[in-house]
Amino acid sequence: MPLQTLKIPIPTPNETSSTRSLISVLSLTPHPEGGYFNRTHTNPTTIPSPFPGQIGETRPLSTSIFYLITAHSPIMRFHKNRSSIVHTAVRGRGRYVLIHESGKVETFVVGCDVEGGEVAQWVVEGGLWKASVLEEGAGELLITEVVVPGFDFSDHEFMVKDRLVDIVGLDAAEKLSPLLRS
Ligand code: GUN
Repeated sequence: MPLQTLKIPIPTPNETSSTRSLISVLSLTPHPEGGYFNRTHTNPTTIPSPFPGQIGETRPLSTSIFYLITAHSPIMRFHKNRSSIVHTAVRGRGRYVLIHESGKVETFVVGCDVEGGEVAQWVVEGGLWKASVLEEGAGELLITEVVVPGFDFSDHEFMVKDRLVDIVGLDAAEKLSPLLRS
């Protein structure tokens, strides 16, 4: 898909009552990337951090979350994690945008309609930049994420404009900049 046709959703003023009910049933809270989340599992086994420069640090073997983007909060902003993350679609439809350090931009539609070509399970390796947007016509995208080793904010980094320009060039960065936090 050419980046020109990437649809950036406009947030609605409020959540619908069915989305509010989903947020409440799953005890989700706002995520700094956009959308909502809840930690559902922290593996009780602890391992030494495998990442460079973190001697003496530990991580849970894995952590899991529900993550939701909605009509009111339809964008997960560009960021990367050191850990690899296994994502599984639970309901709804969205589009993932991945940026490799080489500058290659990859985008695909995620959801549960596997016969219709939606990707129901996808792995984002540590170090890749990722963002997601709600697909037009979808009220929400609910997924699970399993983070290995477990999530820690010190392994997380938001993309900034200058870095985006460096990686993908000025033209692509202009098109992708609505997906930046800053
Ligand atoms: N992203 C993936 N897992 C987590 C988590 O456990 N907490 C936060 N804040 N973000 C995450």
